Amino acid sequence: MKVLVVGSGGREHALCWAIAASPLCEKLWCAPGNAGIAQDAECVAIGAEDLDGIVAFAREHAVDLVVVGPEGPLVLGLVDRLNDAGIRAFGPSAAAARLEGSKGFMKDLCAAHGIPTAAYGRFTDAAAAKAFVRERGAPIVVKADGLAAGKGVVVAESVAEAEAAIDDALVANRFGDAGAELVVEEFLEGEEASYFALVDGKTVLPLASAQDHKRVGDGDTGPNTGGMGAYSPAPVMTPEMEARVLDEIVHPLVAAMTEAGCPFKGVVFAGLMIGESGPKLIEINVRFGDPECQTLMMRLRSDLLPALVASADGALAHLDLRWHPETALCVVMAANGYPGDYAKGTEIRGLDAAASDDVTVFHAGTKREAERILATGGRVLGVTALGASVAEAQARAYAAVDRIDWPDGFCRRDIGWRAVARETAGG
Ligand code: AMP
Ligand code: GLY
Repeated sequence: MKVLVVGSGGREHALCWAIAASPLCEKLWCAPGNAGIAQDAECVAIGAEDLDGIVAFAREHAVDLVVVGPEGPLVLGLVDRLNDAGIRAFGPSAAAARLEGSKGFMKDLCAAHGIPTAAYGRFTDAAAAKAFVRERGAPIVVKADGLAAGKGVVVAESVAEAEAAIDDALVANRFGDAGAELVVEEFLEGEEASYFALVDGKTVLPLASAQDHKRVGDGDTGPNTGGMGAYSPAPVMTPEMEARVLDEIVHPLVAAMTEAGCPFKGVVFAGLMIGESGPKLIEINVRFGDPECQTLMMRLRSDLLPALVASADGALAHLDLRWHPETALCVVMAANGYPGDYAKGTEIRGLDAAASDDVTVFHAGTKREAERILATGGRVLGVTALGASVAEAQARAYAAVDRIDWPDGFCRRDIGWRAVARETAGG
């Protein structure tokens, strides 16, 4: 098969790494890719949101499957455009991608189908949103309805902070169209976890759980980021909890999408709060998580490619995937200053010394210049290790991090702390 992966991050490197290992894959391209992806795929200089460019390339090269990594092109309708051109694609249609592209759409669907999620209101008027906040009290969560590059959510500790977030979006127009409507919702207590499943329009094929670390600093402090590290599986997701997530959230959601006339295909990434009364849905993403994907691909023993094809073809029913029972843990190395301003073009050395049988270094923001690897993004590398326990995966990942020579980068030193504490407490 000829395969084209769309995107340029660590998630796409992990997808390319897994697809390149498939005996079914005869040719792999990535648009636009990065220096690490170039080891597994031929990178082509087409932007992930250049829909015309991607469709033209896929047609010209008779691509058998396009795998769309990020949410942007999905929400813009890349899969619809490819399907219209007769090209098979992994990922949801634009109508189905509204689950991530419009938080209000997702919340209304949950409300209509009794899917457990935070109580909420939808607002385009600042005065009405503030009245709702005053009536509910703090803490309370204010969310831009549309895609806001991970910056659209404010967990407000006070009514004043929530009101400021409302003004930011609805009056100062901080997120443009994406923030012209808000969801204001109840603050949920508990432990966060993520759950991933493949869907083919009707059948749900469970993948695995994961947990990420969104804050930039050790101990989950400092500003939010795209994710500073992750591990899979998430110990809080016991088999009982996983069964509840599938029964109470994923299956009803997939059925609701079919009923709404926009059957879901692709990967469902459910962001969950596991509280005392069980799982509640925080958000749906319609693509793999980054860096969660890196941990899932390290754990997957089966060939990924037939599963992606089956999702696109509506043929997941008889597929079974095998997983390493081990934990995979990914430490993100970012450029100094991230998520604020950071320098680009600094050199990274020692990458070959870091990789081993149990450790893969996925690239997120790199380019090659002659023999040198340079950092080009905020999140730059995802050092991912397998281990028999979370503690072992963590130790292996950090041993590899320490072999990488990049004075201009940093990482959190405590990825997996919650799970390691759980392991220690459990003996
Ligand atoms: P998001 O950008 O949508 O991934 O949300 C960012 C983070 O905000 C989530 O990972 C949660 O930590 C937090 N969050 C979002 N909604 C809620 C909620 N209703 N209750 C508590 N925390 C929330
Ligand atoms: N790591 C969170 C995300 O991909 O949205």
